Amino acid sequence: MPRQAVVSAVAVFAALALTWGAAAEIASQDVIFADDGSIAQSLSGQAGDAEQGARIYADKSSGNCVACHAIADRTDAEFQGTIGPALDGAGDRWAVAQLRGIVADAKQTFPESMMPSLYKTSGYVRPGDGFTGKSGTEPLPTLLSAQQIEDVVAYLATLKE
Ligand code: HEC
Repeated sequence: MPRQAVVSAVAVFAALALTWGAAAEIASQDVIFADDGSIAQSLSGQAGDAEQGARIYADKSSGNCVACHAIADRTDAEFQGTIGPALDGAGDRWAVAQLRGIVADAKQTFPESMMPSLYKTSGYVRPGDGFTGKSGTEPLPTLLSAQQIEDVVAYLATLKE
């Protein structure tokens, strides 16, 4: 194959991969929850990265799961919460689809839950926009991105007892 043809074939493939990547992400309003609150498909269309998920879990400015949950071997976290159950063994208790549903919108699994809905943009009251004193206008950004949800889910799936 002439070099030019190879280069353009690569370019076409890269463009297609980008389009597929974008099309594969499920927007928060299009998420389909099963009756048990689980979500069968990856929200980003990609596999999660457990190492990244472990960081998001304890990061106060993103997941901040650690504000309410504890995991025995996370001695790196300064403070661990007790509002929610300890997550040791969460990967044994729940299938990946169920973990995804809980992280995206826990109220689909636990109707009265105080756990924040991390992948939701409308239909509930959120405090004001930053410190402007104005109420937020919908659609609000999700608290975690589709890929961040997948990363956290991949991390939770590793928590086996
Ligand atoms: C404001 C407190 C709060 C925050 C923040 C929070 N959760 Fe929760 N979570 C709860 C509570 C409370 C429950 C228990 C279920 C219920 O609400 O009845 C729960 C339940 C869960 C469960 C099921 C528990 C089990 O093992 O049976 C998982 C998994 C979970 N949370 C993961 C997370 C992750 C991951 C994050 C961060 C992205 C997070 N939670 C952030 C309060 C919280």
